[in-house]
Amino acid sequence: MKCVDDFRLRFGNRELVPIVIGGMGVDISTAELALEAARLGGIGHISDAMLPTVTDRRYKTKFVSDKQKQYKLNIKQADKSIVQFDLAQVAEATRLHVSKTMEAKRGEGMIFVNCMEKLTMNSPRETLRVRLNEALDAGIDGITLSAGLHLGSFEMMKDNRRFRDAKLGIIVSSLRALILFLRKTSRLDRLPDFIVVEGPLAGGHLGFGMDWAKYDLHTIIAEILAHLKAEQLDIPVIAAGGIFTGTDAVGFLEQGSAAVQVATRFTVAKECGIPEKVQQEYFKATEDQMVVNTTSPTGYPMRMISTSPSIGSGIMPNCEAYGYLLDGNGCCAYIDAYNKVVAENPDEKKIAVYEKTCLCTHMRNYDCWTCGHYTYRLKDTTHRNEDGTYQILSAEHIFRDYQFSRDNQVALPPKK
Ligand SMILES: Cc1cc2nc3c(=O)[nH]c(=O)nc-3n(C[C@H](O)[C@H](O)[C@H](O)COP(=O)(O)O)c2cc1C
Repeated sequence: MKCVDDFRLRFGNRELVPIVIGGMGVDISTAELALEAARLGGIGHISDAMLPTVTDRRYKTKFVSDKQKQYKLNIKQADKSIVQFDLAQVAEATRLHVSKTMEAKRGEGMIFVNCMEKLTMNSPRETLRVRLNEALDAGIDGITLSAGLHLGSFEMMKDNRRFRDAKLGIIVSSLRALILFLRKTSRLDRLPDFIVVEGPLAGGHLGFGMDWAKYDLHTIIAEILAHLKAEQLDIPVIAAGGIFTGTDAVGFLEQGSAAVQVATRFTVAKECGIPEKVQQEYFKATEDQMVVNTTSPTGYPMRMISTSPSIGSGIMPNCEAYGYLLDGNGCCAYIDAYNKVVAENPDEKKIAVYEKTCLCTHMRNYDCWTCGHYTYRLKDTTHRNEDGTYQILSAEHIFRDYQFSRDNQVALPPKK
């Protein structure tokens, strides 16, 4: 029986361990986690979601309070169209996070940034253009385009001096989405360097409707591999979503994927950004608590633990400070849902909003417990401490377990 270490991901003349740790915003896939993946010879992701907020916390910038001060007179207004990001600050935040991460990189692996198109920031094209190009200029090894079709994203980078040397790829959940993307990029004579195919069991936002359970990752990958072969396109395919053991990964590598992208197992690593108290909630979660709902204002279904504090929270929209999900017209589905409940309950001081959630604030505060479907199995990957809590793992342990385990085994960490 084979293990993941019997395979390699080939990028030109580079060979990598075929394990990618997926991007997890907002700073859940931290620089520390990504750096471990690179040190161990794989690929790690940082995320560019809400970077001005992340750099405030990490590097003591003042982007959030500056923006909040600037727009404080608008806080009570439903119309947020005037609340704009300063592009120079978005650029600076991206530069800071990417360059600091890349300076710390050791080992033979690579570090990519996950870039979500749905992070529309009240000015979708301009902010995306800045984020993509600054990441390239700051030396990122590659960019993974996510949460959107990204039909214009390659075009936005085409004049960047690194457009042809950085590794650029996209996450898709269907052959249809891939064909649309390839058709657009073919005009630039620049194919993607990799395609992540994410199935319905992944964490975060899903590229499916609420009928997600009808879909199966192996089937989607088979369709995509057949299409690439028919078109004579030699692009590595990376399987993602619900790959919980090294043996699961081998199944995808034997099918023809060049690597696997995994995330859920790493949510309980000490290098992960989720606070330890919340990591314990991930360990404790049970199968019936894995829910997919439509509370994300992005319009994509999202998987989370049903006890997530974001569900039903009726906090005031916080777009003057954050506002990362405002569309180009200053609107966000949470503002509408919130105002509707306020209008229906004029005398209530504290309201509950179930339809949508203020995703910016809750992701920033680690109160939206998004997770992959197999989160309920995390408790089987570690030891129970005497006080009933679970032992936090190291990213190295989890990475090596994926790399070397066989026969569906999950190696437990050395007991503390
Ligand atoms: C906590 C969490 C947050 C995530 N956030 C993002 C994100 O911001 N952008 C994205 O493209 N994918 C996100 N994902 C998806 C992962 O990058 C990855 O592709 C997927 O979860 C892999 O499946 P697995 O979690 O079953 O291993 C997230 C996943 C988790 C578990």
